[in-house]
Amino acid sequence: MRDEVILAIESSCDETAIAILKNGDDLLVNSVNTQIADHIRFGGVYPELASRLHLKNITSILSYSLSLKGFDYHDITHVAVTAGPGLPGALQIGNMAAKTIASYLEVPLVQVHHLAGHIYANEFAGEFHYPLLSLIVSGGNTELVYIKEPMKFQIIGETEDDAIGEAFDKVARALGLPYPGGVWIDKVSREENIPTFPLPKPKTLGYNFSYSGLKSHLVRLIDKEEKIDGKLKDETIKSYARSTEVSFINQLLDKTHQAAIDLNVKQIVVGGGVSANSYLRSEIVKRFENTDIKVLIPPLWCTTDNAAMIAKCAHHLIKKGEYASLSCSSFPDLDLEN
Ligand code: KG4
Repeated sequence: MRDEVILAIESSCDETAIAILKNGDDLLVNSVNTQIADHIRFGGVYPELASRLHLKNITSILSYSLSLKGFDYHDITHVAVTAGPGLPGALQIGNMAAKTIASYLEVPLVQVHHLAGHIYANEFAGEFHYPLLSLIVSGGNTELVYIKEPMKFQIIGETEDDAIGEAFDKVARALGLPYPGGVWIDKVSREENIPTFPLPKPKTLGYNFSYSGLKSHLVRLIDKEEKIDGKLKDETIKSYARSTEVSFINQLLDKTHQAAIDLNVKQIVVGGGVSANSYLRSEIVKRFENTDIKVLIPPLWCTTDNAAMIAKCAHHLIKKGEYASLSCSSFPDLDLEN
């Protein structure tokens, strides 16, 4: 039988990524071209620039990715692409490329939900055991997803306002740290014995989260702190960063722990950019170490946007025969549950 060779494309935000996955497990190529350096001067992702950079770079990243393992376009049996959610213009570039290749090669096209990709990225770390609970934490999402069987998603908790990554980035900016702020909050919090201070615990419904009030409270406190030549003292930055990290992540841990027990799940999987956070990665394992619930954490290379996770997910959709039409569109607000 012919090998299944999925060419996957991800372009939903500020990474142009291509992956080649053979027979569901064998990740042959994983190319990620990040635009972070181009967006730094805007303090966040500038959507129009993101689209232009995807358009400029996608063809060379494609040819480079295929050349890495001596592949030819004719070896590809399926083309997969992130359908949404994401930046409208950015998504269109990836989908246009995917449709063109699938149409030219006359192979099936598979459209993948970006968050489903982040969830299935964990399969690069180990096997899934259902029912499981997935915590998705990124610049735009903070969701608890119950997954009873492969590719069936039920959102049981979400942020009532800001996403955790967005809130991290805004606090970091108030502290004078560079973009992406969450990365720097993590970096400056890693010293031992940094003094922390308590922060209020937001009241939310059920398994929901909230970060907007906490973020505004922190920014107000930071504004009042003493500055020398417009800069905060190093100790002040570290103390705020560590206190923010502990408060933001503990909220995730408390809700995830409660939901996992209530729903009697077998496994927890974590995904999204914020799943790179060192405190989250160590504490979530500790939370469940004396229980029967196993925790899977994606490898660090798989926490940022990439196409390997899109290919993993596509492999499951192919098994279910779920293909997209060549006249499909992209979907900036795509829903995970339907
Ligand atoms: O999934 P992702 O790459 O894309 C978006 O959803 O935009 O997530 C990016 C987010 C940013 O807010 C970034 O600050 C945050 O993930 N992030 C982190 C860490 N690494 C990335 N937040 C906390 N700790 C980290 N180590």
